[in-house]
Amino acid sequence: MRVAMIGTGYVGLVSGACFADFGHEVVCVDKDAAKIEALERGEIPIYEPGLDVLVNGNRFAGRLSFSTDLGPAVRGADVVFIAVGTPSRRGDGHADLSYVFAAAEEVADAMSGYTLVVNKSTVPVGTGDKVEELIRARKPQADFDVASNPEFLREGSAIEDFKRPDRVVVGTGSERAKELMNQLYRPLFLNETPILFTARRTAEVIKYAANAFLATKISFINEIADLCEKVDADVQAVAKGIGLDKRIGGKFLHAGPGYGGSCFPKDTLALLRTAEETGASLSIVEAASSSNAERKKRMAEKIIAACGGDVKGQTLAVLGVTFKPNTDDMRDAPSLDIIPALQKAGAHIRAYDPEGMEEAAPLLPGTEWMKDENEAMKGADALIILTEWNQFRALDLGHLHESLRKPVIVDLRNIYTREEMKKAGLAYHSVGRAPV
Ligand code: UDX
Repeated sequence: MRVAMIGTGYVGLVSGACFADFGHEVVCVDKDAAKIEALERGEIPIYEPGLDVLVNGNRFAGRLSFSTDLGPAVRGADVVFIAVGTPSRRGDGHADLSYVFAAAEEVADAMSGYTLVVNKSTVPVGTGDKVEELIRARKPQADFDVASNPEFLREGSAIEDFKRPDRVVVGTGSERAKELMNQLYRPLFLNETPILFTARRTAEVIKYAANAFLATKISFINEIADLCEKVDADVQAVAKGIGLDKRIGGKFLHAGPGYGGSCFPKDTLALLRTAEETGASLSIVEAASSSNAERKKRMAEKIIAACGGDVKGQTLAVLGVTFKPNTDDMRDAPSLDIIPALQKAGAHIRAYDPEGMEEAAPLLPGTEWMKDENEAMKGADALIILTEWNQFRALDLGHLHESLRKPVIVDLRNIYTREEMKKAGLAYHSVGRAPV
């Protein structure tokens, strides 16, 4: 099949490369000429494990190409995906749909013959209807369907998530569209991945409801972690104890500094705006969202308390600044709340991140960027772990003790046990567990 993917951001690039890997002929389109030129040279604009090999392998095999020219890509395509950004609109939290609508208009102008237009961008319920109206108004004689096919990719494991998803959701009432989508995802059906066909609006709600539910799960366990700290219980054992109940499930119960990233914060806000407009009450999502925002702000106080109540003039070594490991993405990362608050309290921050420092540097002025974890910790007054990159899981604790001026560790990701830290003679503060 021939596929046009409009937008080479995170979702568009990963999806385009994976569809090419499924054997389809994919053209990825973007207005950003510099980005397209770089991709044509084999340079990948984001850090995502395995993506360079996947993109370049399929490029050399002739199944994946890049273009700034939407017209020919759409004219030759059986299926056109819209995978452009839907950032939070400044001020009101609504999803900004201007890129989606602009892409839909251009697709309308270019399409010839039957075309299936599929929305992959995360969009508020009813956007599929608007895209359909827009195309119909622009080209009344056009033969097309508009479907919704939300993505559930996690950064850092996006390729695995695309190729081995728990399910594929497609929102369309058209039999012809269903047939095309079945063909497109055929390799997954051979793996017995369930494909759920729903009405278009329902698919749009599924995406937001899934993200809001996961965000709620995280905020829930984070509040339980606060309780554990007060009553001397261990949140990790609590998460395990409740997660073994199949009705609850053990995933997304890892307590930490609060969720960040490109989806949870933005999508929960957009869903709340939709609820407000329609008069529906989403008080649980509202609570999850505000609990998370407040938590991120509070984390600096937790660190300051662990450092003896005052960090003025102290040098703090920070490991990890991205919102999660295996990405260079800084969007809504907890570090963006935590580091400036520590600086405001008078601390000097030395930080190291395996992939995120280039993205982070302009966002975190005044931070001293180090070449690795050892350089960061040398002579520091405390070590703060903000992101659980694998390489931070196996620090030499003896060396750490020698390197630090004071043996204080604040681990906001709970990647060490209290026992091993105690044995190493380090003062260890984590989340939802008593300090040692
Ligand atoms: C998320 C969804 O998982 C994905 O399905 C959707 O398509 C996009 O948004 P992503 O933001 O890439 O993916 O990462 P995810 O692994 O979900 O983590 C999101 C945030 O939650 C991170 O800040 C992470 O540190 C935090 N998190 C996650 C926790 O604090 N605890 C957990 O148990 C899980």
